[in-house]
Amino acid sequence: MANVAVIGAQWGDEGKGKIVDWLAERADMVVRFQGGHNAGHTLVVGENVYKLSLLPSGIVRGTPSVIGNGVVLDPWHLKSEVEKLRGQGVDVTPATLKIADTCPLILPFHRDLDALREDASGAGKIGTTRRGIGPAYEDKVGRRAIRVCDLAHLDDLGPQLDRLCAHHDALRAGFGEPPVDRAALVAELKDIAGFVLPFAAPVWRDLAEARSRGRRILFEGAQGVLLDIDHGTYPFVTSSNTVAGTAAAGSGMGPSAVGFVLGIAKAYTTRVGSGPFPTEQDNAIGERLGTRGHEFGTVTGRKRRCGWLDAVLLRQSAAVSGITGIALTKIDVLDGLDEVAICTGYRLRGEMLDYYPANAADQAAVEPVYETMPGWQETTAGARSWAELPAQAIKYIRRIEELIQCPVALVSTSPQRDDTILVRDPFAD
Ligand code: IMP
Repeated sequence: MANVAVIGAQWGDEGKGKIVDWLAERADMVVRFQGGHNAGHTLVVGENVYKLSLLPSGIVRGTPSVIGNGVVLDPWHLKSEVEKLRGQGVDVTPATLKIADTCPLILPFHRDLDALREDASGAGKIGTTRRGIGPAYEDKVGRRAIRVCDLAHLDDLGPQLDRLCAHHDALRAGFGEPPVDRAALVAELKDIAGFVLPFAAPVWRDLAEARSRGRRILFEGAQGVLLDIDHGTYPFVTSSNTVAGTAAAGSGMGPSAVGFVLGIAKAYTTRVGSGPFPTEQDNAIGERLGTRGHEFGTVTGRKRRCGWLDAVLLRQSAAVSGITGIALTKIDVLDGLDEVAICTGYRLRGEMLDYYPANAADQAAVEPVYETMPGWQETTAGARSWAELPAQAIKYIRRIEELIQCPVALVSTSPQRDDTILVRDPFAD
């Protein structure tokens, strides 16, 4: 029986929330392993809509949930998200939620720095969520971070806090900002520590025990492979590794802990924020996809850029992440189009490429080469079996599988969790 990692195979917002929720019902544990509250996962359960940014999606159904060491944690956001969920009737307790005591904290000056840099970058800005994600990861690898475990020892932070603040004071001075108010920071941390610490635990032990008892673990990725710090469209990426390999390191398990890697991909492509997007349709097609697909960010409310499916990028995502099967979402957004197009290669300065080049200038310069197929006029929304799909939609899906060299394991046909066509059960492997 496989543990399953669910990851975004494009630029995020592929509809992971629904798929994770669907799988979480059969999982014994759900684990977030990277990112922070930059993620936006929407879960529709009956009449209720839950919007999660930081908490693992399993929490909504009471599945024991873990925030692993690979996540950067904003303790004030944690409190507000937990309180909001409690207000919606969801029980969040130290029995249902455990947070790795080694998680680095996102502090108020990380948020400040994220925004200051973005505002100063003009046209070159990354388009971050401004939640301090990048600066917090910088402090983690710079060995300056304050971590969850430190909240129990705030009076002993001394030199650690000095080093961290000295670093940020220098950066802040460059932006004409005053130094960090250390006394106020410690007071704020003392204030929030009592909320966070009951959830803190050496979660690697719980995970090791769960594994030895044959429990099913679901690893919940955030963002998408094309936003990965190494494999994405650098520098227009997030500051963590979003590939499936991170599920192990970001939760404190070995590489064999992950069995099935389910890559979530929309039947078209979207991107929020800046950066190259070869198949972007800045025209009526893009508008139509955005309107029908309700393409507005869960976290920032920003309008998402929309375009055709890029099979070159998807094949690359599948390779670098070891994707076992694809969950294809939002196929219904393509209903009613006369023609659908898939990018099958790139032309770069007269030469054909079957992969996405690494250099930012080359990434911006590639021209997509499309294959077009007839669309379908029937609706796919709500289909729960292949028999309910129009023949052209099936041909489209089969062609994607051929081009990306990876099978489709399931197709999602609406935000409702039961509107799903299951081809291969990830947990059954
Ligand atoms: P950051 O993660 O806030 O630093 O933002 C870096 C890039 O990742 C920006 O282009 C964001 O729009 C993008 N990003 C971060 N989180 C998500 C997400 O959950 N979905 C889609 N894009 C995201």
